[in-house]
Amino acid sequence: MTMTSASNPVLRLAPSILSADFARLGEEVRAIQSAGADLVHFDVMDNHYVPNLTIGPLVCEAIRPHVTIPIDVHLMVEPVDALIPLFARAGANIITFHPEASRHVDRTLQLIKEHGCKAGLVLNPATSVACLDHVMDKLDMLLLMSVNPGYGGQNFIPGTLAKLRSVRARIDSHMAAGGQSIWLEVDGGVKTDNIRKIVQAGADTCVAGSAVFGAPDADGGYHGVMNALRRAACPGP
Ligand code: DX5
Ligand code: ZN
Repeated sequence: MTMTSASNPVLRLAPSILSADFARLGEEVRAIQSAGADLVHFDVMDNHYVPNLTIGPLVCEAIRPHVTIPIDVHLMVEPVDALIPLFARAGANIITFHPEASRHVDRTLQLIKEHGCKAGLVLNPATSVACLDHVMDKLDMLLLMSVNPGYGGQNFIPGTLAKLRSVRARIDSHMAAGGQSIWLEVDGGVKTDNIRKIVQAGADTCVAGSAVFGAPDADGGYHGVMNALRRAACPGP
């Protein structure tokens, strides 16, 4: 998997399968890949860290043969560490977790990398960016939640835009000082009517669950909505 520099204009779309038809998951992930998805966003909820219960490593392993694009595993679980080897073996490429769900954030980031995956932190809307202070050199991805985690289909929290701008500046100065590339992903309530502001504020990777999987066939289905998201994000001349 290549990690593109933030200085390149790039937009990765990561449909969240939380809103997919779970009875046809293999077909659903194949469909989003052929519609141009860059990543499969895989939401893991444990009914402890968040008030909902979803899917685990067995489902990751089951969808792995259906796609070649990276699987972006978003762990909303506490504790975190025991699941990392299981997801790595199940074919995850990127694993992100919430810092307050791990007793030892640095150790968890290292564990993810030792298992051959890209590692990232996820910040909730009320989580301060101060938790990045001593781990910037260990991050491949930073995920900003633009809703409170637990459910698909919630409204985008507008305060995320200011947070995005400040984190974008921080990543850019980290990279300008010779640091590694860090993807900046946004998750929650991303739609065609707000993606432009989100990208302008500095996101290079956007999760979209209900926007993609709820797309009406009459509007071109998954292919139509992903093209619409890209056009809305970066309108041509
Ligand atoms: C929320 C999840 C999101 C969610 C996004 O806890 O992490 O990935 O599925 O869904 P939408 O795009 O519908 O807000
Ligand atoms: Zn997510």
